[in-house]
Amino acid sequence: EHDPSKSEKNSHVRQADEPLDYSPLRRVTGRSFAMATLVSMGGLIFGYDTGQISGFLEMPDFLRRFGEPQPDGSYGFSNVRQGLIVGLLSIGTLIGALVAAPVADKIGRRWSVCLWSIVVSVGFVVQVSAVNVWEQIMIGRFIAGWGVGALSLLVPMYQAETAPPWIRGALVCTYQLFITLGIFLAACFNYGTYSHQRDSSASWRIVIGLGWLWTLILGLGILLFSETPRFDYRRGRIEAARVTLQRVYGAPRNHHAIHTQMEEIASKLRAESQVKQGAIGGAIEMFRAPRMTYRIMLGVVLQMFQQLTGANFFFYYGTSIFASVNISSFITQLILNGINFGSTFLGLVLVERAGRRLSLIIGSIWMTICFLVFASVGHFMLDRDMPANTPTAGIILIVFAALFIVGYATTWGPMVWTIIAEIYPSRYRARAMAIATASNWLWNFLIAFFTPFITSAIDFRYGYVFAACNLVAGVIVYLFVIEGQGRTLEEIDTMYIEHVSPRASAKWVPPQPEEITRLRREAGTEV
Ligand code: GLC
Repeated sequence: EHDPSKSEKNSHVRQADEPLDYSPLRRVTGRSFAMATLVSMGGLIFGYDTGQISGFLEMPDFLRRFGEPQPDGSYGFSNVRQGLIVGLLSIGTLIGALVAAPVADKIGRRWSVCLWSIVVSVGFVVQVSAVNVWEQIMIGRFIAGWGVGALSLLVPMYQAETAPPWIRGALVCTYQLFITLGIFLAACFNYGTYSHQRDSSASWRIVIGLGWLWTLILGLGILLFSETPRFDYRRGRIEAARVTLQRVYGAPRNHHAIHTQMEEIASKLRAESQVKQGAIGGAIEMFRAPRMTYRIMLGVVLQMFQQLTGANFFFYYGTSIFASVNISSFITQLILNGINFGSTFLGLVLVERAGRRLSLIIGSIWMTICFLVFASVGHFMLDRDMPANTPTAGIILIVFAALFIVGYATTWGPMVWTIIAEIYPSRYRARAMAIATASNWLWNFLIAFFTPFITSAIDFRYGYVFAACNLVAGVIVYLFVIEGQGRTLEEIDTMYIEHVSPRASAKWVPPQPEEITRLRREAGTEV
């Protein structure tokens, strides 16, 4: 739990004798809840878009229109075509994540959300209107991907910049909750249209078309909310910033919490304006700041390993994998996606109870074991030519896929997003997060694209690759990730700057306020 009194103690812009009492504000206001939920629609679009393709690859009408004729008269996808259709979304998202940061600094967070929602919608139009040209589907997914990638940076940023500090952590996890809800809804709709419209284009067109609904809600809904206070302040709209804070904090105008927050924003802005900022100079300056190269590398590596857990192996190709072994694939996918959504709630609790380090390490070990069993059963027990001969193997496969997802959804799924939102100082947060997010999407693409090739070559033994990656991921957390549970963002920053040992970080005692002030001044990240 975030303890606002700690940030009070550590800030040097306040008078020591000023009365400190956040207690009447330690709650979620209707405004902050509505804001978090609405903005999280960006996560829903993310999940919905990445989740739907797995089912399309099994829909007869989709295969007939965009697939290639097979020797037996049926239709299917070559590995290249399938990899491109599935993976191009992730390449678009990678570019989107990178360009979103400067655009958000120019036109603001709120208008950016609106703009990128329009881009996603255009991508949907391109896909829905495809008749039988597979490239059009690929291009449509690429365009939608730009928007999805941009939103994947903007959503946590908007939430973090607007939320009251004491619920910021939970709000970032809401984002992943909505991603998993999106993936789940995609599977539900896929199942629904597959059951009722199997042979018509409605089977996939309805699913894509429904995506408009989420983008419409997000794109228009965001206009009902204000710009983030931080951006407003930077643009000189000081009164607007104050009003937004009052609303989300649920505090009267002259409450000291509002006053303090405004002061902090102002002093950070003063410090920032003293440094010359050019596009290239800014980037170089970021890498030179204390422990920033380390932290950027850490964000990049954590996001890479989040993808290398192998979760998207199930979310993208699950339907095809289970279909290939004669398991009722649409229902299985639906169950797995439901488990993913349901378990994420547990993740929201774990992140604050067990902490990031322990959860992630246990998650890694858990997922390693699941993939070892999954790969071994698929390779040694399953009769690939006559799966009906080995029904037990089929059941074990599903059970271990489900257990894997429980482990993933409670740990690596939500917590990597949380960690990259909390390890950077505010000044570099957008740019550093953009780089880490791009790494997520790059690996997302590589897995989406190469999975068909790898599974054709080594089949279920692919699971051993993910098992090994999960093991390494656990070691990396043990060695490099600092425990951020219950810490203010300032404390986490100081721990990295001070080279606090990650293993001892949970027991670290913050230095006295003067000490923090000195350290931060020396580090050039003074607030
Ligand atoms: C995370 C991953 C994303 C994945 C999702 C599954 O958000 O970044 O790639 O599809 O979890 O729940």
